[in-house]
Amino acid sequence: MSFTQFIPDELVEAMQRARHLTVLTGSGISAESGIPTFRDAQTGLWARYRPEELATPEAFLRNPRLIWEWYEWRRSLVAEAKPNAGHIALSELENHFQTLHLITQNVDGLHQRAGHKHVIEFHGNIHRNRCFEENKLVSEWKKKDGQIPPLCPDCGGSLRPDVVWFGEAIPEDTLSNACAASANCDLFMAIGTSAQVYPAAGLAEIAKGKNARIVEINTEKTPLSDYADYVLLGPAGKILPGIVTALTTN
Ligand code: OAD
Repeated sequence: MSFTQFIPDELVEAMQRARHLTVLTGSGISAESGIPTFRDAQTGLWARYRPEELATPEAFLRNPRLIWEWYEWRRSLVAEAKPNAGHIALSELENHFQTLHLITQNVDGLHQRAGHKHVIEFHGNIHRNRCFEENKLVSEWKKKDGQIPPLCPDCGGSLRPDVVWFGEAIPEDTLSNACAASANCDLFMAIGTSAQVYPAAGLAEIAKGKNARIVEINTEKTPLSDYADYVLLGPAGKILPGIVTALTTN
């Protein structure tokens, strides 16, 4: 079934007129690559684990081995995954706009693997590590048997994934780049996010406040649907290729 039929002509025209597109993605865009989302019932990671047990600095201090191993498991899922049709279509959209800013809450690096060179990684990247004590990025360390998590070669502090945990601030540069991209676009697309986690969820509100048209792509409605100009309900891996086809054939 072709999803082009679900893309209203009015939206295609709005996209053809737009010059500056900003996109915010969430875990829903990677669902079709086999990476579980956070909040979906049954398959969501958070359905099996309580986030406050695993994704906070306090949890890491309490049980660093558990948290490190949980992230190792998530890394193995990501290593097996490939960008899907949604990631690829999104990278093709770059040709249709003067600027395309891509902000992702995902830490899986799949947008980069689909060809995006500049991605604002709002919640970090699971492939990088940093020192818990000094906060600086660490890419190499001595592998000592049984040492989990590994230790920083400079200060001996524990290494942790370079992701943003609950209760932690978004790095200043990242936040200001994302806010600027949201304030300076004429079209804003929110794809595969439940729009529940701030400050990411507030980016669409910034765009709306500056009169950008808001497009949501999700398999279900979210709080953002209430003020979006277009809500396209369905899998991103079908709808995004449909949008690219509609833009290239109209
Ligand atoms: P959620 O799990 O909260 O939401 C996933 C969204 O994707 C839901 O609204 C689903 O309906 C939608 N969805 C599922 N499959 C889809 C598909 N094939 N196509 C389109 N939409 C689909 O994930 P996020 O909104 O990304 O933060 O969660 C935001 C943040 O909460 C994450 O970055 C993470 C988490 O706590 C941190 O770890 C700091």
